Amino acid sequence: MAANHEEVRNPTEVRMSQMVLPCHANHRGQLSTGQLLKWIDTAACLSAERHAGCPCVTASMDDIYFEQTISVGQVVNLKTKVNRAFNSSMEVGIHVTSEDLCSGKEWKVCQAFATFVAQPQGSGKVKLKPATPLTEEEQLEHSIAAERRRMRLVHTDNIKDLLTQSTLQDERSREGGTNGEVLAQKTRVESVELVLPPHANHQGNTFGGQIMAWMENIANIAASRLCHAHPTLKVIEMFHFRGPSQVGDRLILRAIVNNAFKDSMEVGVCVEAFCHDVTVPRRHINSAFMTFVVLDEKNRPCILPRIKPEPGDGERRYREALARRKIRLDRKYVISCNQSEVPLSVPWDPSNQVYLSYNNVSALKTLMSKSDWVLATEIDKVRLYTLEDNSFLSFRVEIKVKVDTRQSFNLLSDLSCRTKWDPYYMKSELLQQVNEDDAIYHVVTTVRGADGKLQDFIILASRRPPCDKGDPYVVAFRSVSLPTHPPTSEYTRGETLCSGFCIWSEGDMTKVSYYNQFTPGLVSQITTNISGLSSDFASTYQACERFLLQNTTDLNKPEP
Ligand code: COA
Ligand code: ADP
Repeated sequence: MAANHEEVRNPTEVRMSQMVLPCHANHRGQLSTGQLLKWIDTAACLSAERHAGCPCVTASMDDIYFEQTISVGQVVNLKTKVNRAFNSSMEVGIHVTSEDLCSGKEWKVCQAFATFVAQPQGSGKVKLKPATPLTEEEQLEHSIAAERRRMRLVHTDNIKDLLTQSTLQDERSREGGTNGEVLAQKTRVESVELVLPPHANHQGNTFGGQIMAWMENIANIAASRLCHAHPTLKVIEMFHFRGPSQVGDRLILRAIVNNAFKDSMEVGVCVEAFCHDVTVPRRHINSAFMTFVVLDEKNRPCILPRIKPEPGDGERRYREALARRKIRLDRKYVISCNQSEVPLSVPWDPSNQVYLSYNNVSALKTLMSKSDWVLATEIDKVRLYTLEDNSFLSFRVEIKVKVDTRQSFNLLSDLSCRTKWDPYYMKSELLQQVNEDDAIYHVVTTVRGADGKLQDFIILASRRPPCDKGDPYVVAFRSVSLPTHPPTSEYTRGETLCSGFCIWSEGDMTKVSYYNQFTPGLVSQITTNISGLSSDFASTYQACERFLLQNTTDLNKPEP
C-alpha cells in the first residue's frame, strides 16, 4: 500500500472537471441537476469501459443525496472508479465536489454508486476480470460493494413488500402548518422526447445520463407547479434501467407530485419507449422517485402546500410516497450509522432489516480492513491483536485450525452453539430466524454490569458466504432492540456495536479471526489480557479450536 496516491492510481479512475457555464444552469444561476447527472453517467461509464474493455450500459443508480447546489462560474470535479467487478456487472463509485476558483474552497456535492453492465459483442454474457483494489480505502470499497450489490438486487422486491405491509396513516391531520391544498392533477406533466444521435452513446443506445436529465427536467416542472417557485432536488431514490432504448425511439415521460410533506415533496416519474410503428407495444424503461425542497434566500426549506390526491392510483401513490419516505429515512439513518457514533440498539423492524443487515456486515468489514492492527501477545499459537482508532479500542483474536472452512462458518455463525466453547456465553437462544442470512438471538453472558446483575444482549447475527473466490466467510454481530424482548429486571441489557468472525481458507487450514470493537463493559476484561495479566483469550480460543475439531461432520447448513 503506497502512500502517494499518484503512484498507485487505480487504472479505472477517471477524473473530469467542468466549468459551470450559463448554458448548464437553471434560471437561478445554479447548475441543473440534469446536466450534473449527464456528467456523472459519462464519467462513470468511462471508468466501467476502461475496466471491461468493451461497451457498457447503466443498469442502476443507488440513492443520491445532493448536499450542495453549484453556481455558474464554479468548477465541478468528478472522480469515478470501478469498486468491484462481479460477473457481467460492475459497481462504479462516483465522488463529486464543487470548487470556487476565487476562494480556492472545495465542497462535497454528492457521492453515488452506479452499476454498469458490459455488453457482449456477440451472444452470451461477458465475464469480467476481477477489479484489483490497490489501497486500503479501495480494499474496503471492494469488500462493501458486495453488500451494496446484495441490497440493490433485492431493492425493488423489498420496497414492494414494505409498501404492501405499510400501515402508515395519512399525516395531514398530524402535521399542521401547511400552506393550502393543491389538486395533484394540477402538477401532472407529460412530455415526449425523440431520441436523436446526440442523445445516444457510442453504441446507439440512449445515454443513461440523458434519460436521467429528461426525467429530472419533467419532475422539476411537476414540483414547480405545486410550489410556484424554483424547487431544488435533494434526493433521487435508487432506480433501475429496465431495458434499453435506441436512436429513433420516442420516449414518453410522465410525472406528478405523489405527496407533499411539510417542507419536501415526492415527485414520481415514469418513462416508456415506443417506435414509429404504433403496433409495437410500449416498453417501460424506468421509474424514479425524487424529493424536492424549496429554499428561501437563507437556504431554509419553505413550508409547502398539501396535495389532494386523485382517487384510485393517486391515493395509492400518495400513501406509498409516505411509506417510501419512512423507508428512505430509515435507510439513510441505518446505512450512514458508523462506528464513530454512539452504540445504539436500533429497533429491528421489517422496514429496516435489509439495511441493518447491510450495516452489520459493512461495519465489521470496515474494522477488518484497517491496516494498523498491532500484535499485542501470542500464547500457544493464539494471537491477540489490538487497534486504537480515534476513541475506540478494538481487538482481534486469531487461530488456525485444520478443519473445513465452510463447516467452521456454519458452526460459528450459529450463536446458539457458542455456549459450548465461550465461557462468557451462559445462555444463547435463537429468537427469530429472519432469513437464510440473518438471525436474532437472546444472549446472557457471565459478565456483570455495574449493578451486579448479569448482562444480556439481543444480537443480530448476519452471515455471508464469499461473494467470489478470494473473499472470506463473514459472520457479523450487533445489538438490535426487539419490542417483543424488552430489558427485564433480571439482567442489565448490554449493547455490542460491532463484532464477528472472518474465516479464511489457507491451504488445508482455516484461519479464524474474531473481531470486537470494545464496548465500555468489556474494557477491563480485555485490557487484563492485553497487558498479560490474564490469558483468558487463549484458553477461550483453544476451546473454540477444540469445538471446531470435534464437530467436523455436522454440516447442518447447505452451501447457498
Ligand atoms: N441493479 C444492479 N445490477 C443489476 C440490476 C439492478 N437493479 N438488475 C440486474 N443487474 C445486474 C445483474 O446482477 C447481473 O450482474 P452480474 O452479471 O454481474 O451477476 C447483470 O445485471 C445482468 O443481469 P441479467 O439478469 O442477466 O440481465 P437483465 O436481463 O436483468 O439485464 C440490463 C440487465 C441492465 C443489461 C438490462 O436491464 C438493460 O439492458 N437495461 C437497460 C440498460 C440501458 O440501456 N441503460 C442506459 C439507459 S437506457
Ligand atoms: P406506480 O404507479 O406504482 O407509482 P409507475 O412506475 O407506473 O409506478 O410510475 C412511477 C411514478 O410515475 C408514479 O408514482 C407517478 O408519480 C408517475 N406517473 C406514472 N404514471 C403517470 C401518469 N399517467 N401521469 C403522471 N405521472 C405518472
